[in-house]
Amino acid sequence: MNGSTESPPPRPVIAGNWKMHKGPSAARLFLRDFQPRFRPRDDRTVIFFPPAVSLPAALQAAAERPDLQFGVQSIHWEAEGAFTGEIGAAMARDAGARFTLVGHSERRHLFGETDEMVARKAAAALAHELTPVICLGETLDERRSGRVAEVILRQLEAALELVSHDEVARLVLAYEPVWAIGTGETATPQDAVEAHGVLRGRLRERAGDAGDVVPILYGGSVKPGNVADLLAGSDVDGVLVGGASLDPVSFAAIANTGTG
Ligand code: PGA
Repeated sequence: MNGSTESPPPRPVIAGNWKMHKGPSAARLFLRDFQPRFRPRDDRTVIFFPPAVSLPAALQAAAERPDLQFGVQSIHWEAEGAFTGEIGAAMARDAGARFTLVGHSERRHLFGETDEMVARKAAAALAHELTPVICLGETLDERRSGRVAEVILRQLEAALELVSHDEVARLVLAYEPVWAIGTGETATPQDAVEAHGVLRGRLRERAGDAGDVVPILYGGSVKPGNVADLLAGSDVDGVLVGGASLDPVSFAAIANTGTG
């Protein structure tokens, strides 16, 4: 059985968001190539977010590797109903997902997801034993006008709206500055540390010690060449990787970071 949502995942958490790439055949090929390049280890968590249609093929290709975790890129907040094109949390869980991205900036900016929708999705994930990876981040304009902390705290507060005190420890956050996603522009390790510190502070205010166990991932043009510096920052507990997760060699290099 791939995974459990009961205890926080070992850190660092290295997550690959394939976005709308890799159908079932390509997912299978990727996982065959990737597995010998990344051996099982208990000092980190590796999670793949394939397109939902490729999840069964990906799980099957990784059947011998219960250490590898899988999730979906989005869920609807309702369990089922007349919502053409959507998938519910329980059906994602039934298909083998243990995680779901929630509020990725592409969902927010291209598909109109609001803070309120993100909150409902996070609550639905928790209700169905999926770990929500809640994505937050400012646009370039917001950064230039000095509003990074204000924006990410607003997004965090909204996402926590329907999350109980006890459930905070079951969350994962991903700080992904919008201007760094898919652009080749990476936040400096210091930018990441500052934003993660802001988020950690609010998690602690909200949930005390439980706020410390929430992994906070950085995302935005993470590559084999910059991952070590990013992960060295305090409160940078992992990375959410888009483009560089599509190639098994580069994603294995990222997943193996720090292992010499
Ligand atoms: P990128 O994407 O690594 O291609 O910048 C990150 C993400 O969108 O999660």
